[in-house]
Amino acid sequence: MSGALLEVRDLSVVFDGFRAIDGIDLTVEQGELRFLIGPNGAGKTTLIDVITGLTRPAAGSVRFEGRDLVGRKEHEIVRMGVGRTFQTSVVFEQLSVVENLDLAASFRRPLWSLARRRRGVSDAVDAAMRTTGLDALADRPAGVLSHGQRQWLEIGMLIAQRPRLLLLDEPVAGMSGDERARTGELLTEIAKDHTVIVVEHDMDFLRRYASQVTVLHEGKVLVEGSVDEVRADPRVQEVYLGRADDKSRTGGGGEGRAGGDGDGPADGRSQAGDGEKSRGPAVGSAAGEVK
Ligand SMILES: Nc1ncnc2c1ncn2[C@@H]1O[C@H](COP(=O)(O)OP(=O)(O)OP(=O)(O)O)[C@@H](O)[C@H]1O
Ligand SMILES: [Mg+2]
Repeated sequence: MSGALLEVRDLSVVFDGFRAIDGIDLTVEQGELRFLIGPNGAGKTTLIDVITGLTRPAAGSVRFEGRDLVGRKEHEIVRMGVGRTFQTSVVFEQLSVVENLDLAASFRRPLWSLARRRRGVSDAVDAAMRTTGLDALADRPAGVLSHGQRQWLEIGMLIAQRPRLLLLDEPVAGMSGDERARTGELLTEIAKDHTVIVVEHDMDFLRRYASQVTVLHEGKVLVEGSVDEVRADPRVQEVYLGRADDKSRTGGGGEGRAGGDGDGPADGRSQAGDGEKSRGPAVGSAAGEVK
């Protein structure tokens, strides 16, 4: 079946009567690098949660390569070729870079190949290491990596699983300028042979690396188009400028959201502990830059 790689149709998600997603349609073609933006609470992470099977929608469909994802388990969706990162970092700190990558890769490897595992690393791990530029750090424990390196490791862990669709939730949050630039180049590189959806607030980053942008607001698609079209759109300016005054908002995160507080993994994984990352301020600064 030709057609789009990902087709989201009339999707709605309701949390205790609150419509976090309210009738979203989204079509992403094979090979696209699509940016997803929108103010805090727009529904960006929730949309990713639905696509990856973490949250069940109240209505609508999500088709990946023509197959419906709704109702499938998270691991099943990973096996089908959809990988994601979380808004907060999740790596095994005590394991080395290469061990983290190897573990991620093994998730999709059939048991027989684990049983007769060769010495050395698999091609998928090797490729992930080279793409992310982490080869020099292969034997370092993930716990000593800088914030940026850690994000690249997570992206590497995704690539090692050989997904056809990657969903990245705010990969440059909390990064330095240099790290952002490196990440932009990394995304461009990855997008050569993967379809990628990136959630990002930072307009400067978008200007440099985005082509197609979808803007979400209050659970709906507000605008879709090129970076220039989106930036020029008065509705987008209004949404961002409107938020600029609204500094009192905490940015959520306390409502038992996936990847948020309260249910940290108990298996030696750790979270970055900087869940606030670029929430708020990034939108604030973006606000002034939309025009
Ligand atoms: N598990 C949940 N239970 C209740 N409400 C939720 C839950 N997850 C998300 N929400 C609410 O749904 C709305 C959309 O949240 P979501 O996290 O998808 O926004 P976002 O666009 O990713 O925002 P941010 O830029 O802050 O990451 C918010 O109002 C949020 O508080
Ligand atoms: Mg989010």
